[in-house]
Amino acid sequence: MMVSFKIIPLMLVVAISCLVGISKSQSTVPVVNGLSYSYYSRSCPDLDFIIRDHLFDVFERDITQAAGLLRLHFHDCFVKGCDGSVLLVGSSSTPSEKDAPPNLTLRHEAFKIINDLRAHVHYHCGRVVSCADIATLAARESVYQSGGPFYHVPLGRRDGLSFATQSETLANLPPPFFNTTQLLNAFATKNLNATDLVALSGGHTIGISHCTSFTNRLYPTQDPSMDQTLANNLKLTCPTATTNSTTNLDLRTPNVFDNKYFVDLMNHQGLFTSDQTLYTDSRTKAIVTSFATNQNLFFEKFIDAMVKMSQLSVLTGTQGEIRTNCSARNVIRHVNLKSVAQVDHEKERLSQY
Ligand code: HEM
Ligand SMILES: *[C@@H]1O[C@H](CO)[C@@H](O)[C@H](O)[C@H]1NC(C)=O
Ligand SMILES: *[C@@H]1O[C@H](CO)[C@@H](O)[C@H](O)[C@H]1NC(C)=O
Ligand SMILES: *[C@@H]1O[C@H](CO)[C@@H](O)[C@H](O)[C@H]1NC(C)=O
Ligand SMILES: *[C@@H]1O[C@H](CO)[C@@H](O)[C@H](O)[C@H]1NC(C)=O
Ligand SMILES: *[C@@H]1O[C@H](CO)[C@@H](O)[C@H](O)[C@H]1NC(C)=O
Repeated sequence: MMVSFKIIPLMLVVAISCLVGISKSQSTVPVVNGLSYSYYSRSCPDLDFIIRDHLFDVFERDITQAAGLLRLHFHDCFVKGCDGSVLLVGSSSTPSEKDAPPNLTLRHEAFKIINDLRAHVHYHCGRVVSCADIATLAARESVYQSGGPFYHVPLGRRDGLSFATQSETLANLPPPFFNTTQLLNAFATKNLNATDLVALSGGHTIGISHCTSFTNRLYPTQDPSMDQTLANNLKLTCPTATTNSTTNLDLRTPNVFDNKYFVDLMNHQGLFTSDQTLYTDSRTKAIVTSFATNQNLFFEKFIDAMVKMSQLSVLTGTQGEIRTNCSARNVIRHVNLKSVAQVDHEKERLSQY
């Protein structure tokens, strides 16, 4: 086992929290057919530790990477299910397109981190663990190592063989200017309810955003549901609607996974329309308040919602494959037919939502 001594305190905390209350860290949300909490217990028993240990080093250098990994998992799951399709790279896409502003908001580093994790895991266990499962575990570690709850996730996902088209991507990822009605509808199509919506939006307790994702609330007219001091500060960060700058999503504790995001909302300091609307709208306001005043409740509901989200349209059994490289399918079929699908796929990765 290659676990370094630095991680031992972290392992003890997890071991103790598991002993003290397995019921708390293991959700009661149903497990879909083909997945299980003990999927790799024989084929890769050290999987959790390998991933935790590597991410411990990554986050020690730069804790902001946790947000990128959490968001990557969300995007993977909402578009075509949690099948690692978001990780696929079109082999001959043009760099200019790939780097086109302002859409490059899924972090480059997150893709690299997933591939590094895959290399470690496959070195120790062989090619038995999917990239989709690695992304799921990386999201779990991102939450936990940022100060959030530890929770078990069902495993056994297989990697998809195809890309999502741009229209599939746009249709499935809710944009930041959605109101509560639109968000509730978008989440309902994934069998996620109002509690899940508010809890998952709590993922915005860590991470950053580019100006283009929220300047609809500043220009040409300022959104009256935004706190004036926040609006003034955001106008300094983003003097125009398309300034290439970033700001923190949670202004109280930007890199800590806690319930302060909901305190922000209660103070009209949510960044996106899709954040603040959860407090403005009577259908979700009470849920926001309950999470702002009870962090344990938020953690409990977040775990349930994450376990639900992490099981959306998964491939299991003999479906799909276990990729040797998270960025590419094992067998490139139809080498000469790439253009439309692969170029479209690039846009999944580049989507601004
Ligand atoms: C409710 C619908 C959601 C909308 C409209 C939304 C929208 C966005 C947008 C626009 C950004 C900023 C992108 C940029 O400009 O750089 C962002 C960032 C982020 N989102 Fe969401 N999101 C939603 C749900 C979620 C969920 C369910 C999670 C995870 C549980 C999540 C986790 C994150 C994280 C961690 C970041 C920061 C990423 C980073 O720092 O690189 N979001 N989101
Ligand atoms: C935005 O800024 C980042 C970091 O300074 C830089 O890497 C990126 O190329 C910039 N994008 C544009 C469109 O200028
Ligand atoms: C960014 O994405 C939006 C929709 O996803 C698209 O309409 C726009 O053309 C893209 N911009 C660039 C520069 O790629
Ligand atoms: C939400 O947005 C939709 C579409 O723009 C609009 O029809 C609806 O009236 C809005 N709902 C609320 C409660 O603002
Ligand atoms: C929504 O689902 C969660 C589990 O994720 C459950 O605890 C909650 O009772 C449900 N809420 C409603 C209003 O159905
Ligand atoms: C993985 O696949 C990507 C995309 O095809 C490629 O650029 C990269 O070199 C591959 N990595 C390895 C280690 O083969």
